[in-house]
Amino acid sequence: MALRQFLYLCPLLMAFAATGCSDPTKSTNRRKPVVFPSSGKKSITKIAALEKVVSPPGTFFTTPYLQLGTNATDPGTLSVVWHTAAASAVSLPRWVVETRSPAGSGGWKKQVAPIRSNRVAVGSVKPHVVYTAAVNGLVPGEPFDYRVLKSDTPVFAARANRARPSASQDYRMVLFGDCAEDTAWQKKIAYQTSLLKPDAVLLTGDIVYPHGRASEYRANYFPVYGAEKADPERGAPLLASTLFIGVSGNHDLAYSSLSKYPDGMAYYYYWKQPLNGWGGDVSAERPPISGDRTAFEKAAGESFPVGGNFTFDYGNTHFVAIDANYYMNWQSPKMVAGLRKAVTENPSATWRFVVLHVPPFHSSAVHQNEQWMRRLAPLFEETGVDVVWSGHVHNYQRSRPLHFLPSETKTSDGKVDGTFALDTVFDGVGVTKPDGVLYVVTGAGGAALYSKPLTSNADSPEAEPFTAKYDATVHSLTELTVRGKTLSVRQVDENGKEVDRWSVTK
Ligand SMILES: [Fe+2]
Repeated sequence: MALRQFLYLCPLLMAFAATGCSDPTKSTNRRKPVVFPSSGKKSITKIAALEKVVSPPGTFFTTPYLQLGTNATDPGTLSVVWHTAAASAVSLPRWVVETRSPAGSGGWKKQVAPIRSNRVAVGSVKPHVVYTAAVNGLVPGEPFDYRVLKSDTPVFAARANRARPSASQDYRMVLFGDCAEDTAWQKKIAYQTSLLKPDAVLLTGDIVYPHGRASEYRANYFPVYGAEKADPERGAPLLASTLFIGVSGNHDLAYSSLSKYPDGMAYYYYWKQPLNGWGGDVSAERPPISGDRTAFEKAAGESFPVGGNFTFDYGNTHFVAIDANYYMNWQSPKMVAGLRKAVTENPSATWRFVVLHVPPFHSSAVHQNEQWMRRLAPLFEETGVDVVWSGHVHNYQRSRPLHFLPSETKTSDGKVDGTFALDTVFDGVGVTKPDGVLYVVTGAGGAALYSKPLTSNADSPEAEPFTAKYDATVHSLTELTVRGKTLSVRQVDENGKEVDRWSVTK
């Protein structure tokens, strides 16, 4: 262990000697502790109440929920998605979505973009239609109202927390992964999320257990995040009011045998996100699907095969979401070129975040032989990625800022060796300018925790030297606040207690 520690630190010491860029004595690297924004409390402006609308029984199979939609950059856009039982009637109902933005002001505005639909008739799930209405013209950063009309009669209305913020506006987001398994922990995390009332929720993969099936969404996902009321034993009514963004994990897309899981890969059916990804032409760029694909392709529509990789802007941040599953060949020139373009495509963004499910760096015993994403570390460093957010490992971990040069030598055990340079000066409190990329694992969103070999001590000799903070004692979520050039992060547990707080400044 002593030798390994030395090898890890050697490049860092050499870097200090060569550049002095992380010299702890340099005053430029020191800042006053960042004052954290108060969570969930905004100045209250009185807004006219939303008129109550009752949905007649049987109107929806899944009530409306908010999605990013296909526009990756315009903060005035979102999509409203709902499901109905497949229509057997000859004449289909006329659906219309109307918005009022900001919330409570002015009249309802009819959204004119054609409403799209895809029919989901897979496995033993009741056949249903997924409707997607693109919404335009929202006032960025403001709460807004929307309602759904069926044959001219309002059948659903909701108030959204916030439209997407513009580049000059702050935002607050909750992140967690490894969640919808119908556990008590999942419901407590959903409840804590509702108390924070974030602008958006970003799921870092393994959204639905155990096999990413449509039937599992219906049992474990929609009832918890779309619960009737906020209750730590049931979940919270988040989906209608809060934008959810989903990044795929292995439980979402890797069970790709349609003969075994005919309603699997439901990620492609239910998430309506930008289709600006790349790849998908060969099996090393998408799930290797086996079995009859006819019903699957109809249900997935245009989300397959590119839906696993996408980018979007949110406030002053450029997000890149990528599929990190075992079947992806992230070493192919085409995929690397696509990723490089994706990360750098908004030059004016203040922050660049990558979200991928399988963490390149972590200290847990489980999944130690799944290090393939480490090979992208040099690209992340070169393109100015600030933080890589992951899940997969069911606990919370934060790395030191790091540089990693992977070895060319391939190992047979799935590990990727290489040379590290660690910034041991950054502490996220008094020293907030990192030298390197930060890697965060926030996989404690609901599935059983991984506590081996560590529970909570990042200073343990069993922890990798790059790990700065580690907590596997409790389920938790990440609350991320971006205010201009300050990123403030809190890790909050299932009971609302703070587990970690740190910040980055530019
Ligand atoms: Fe996973």
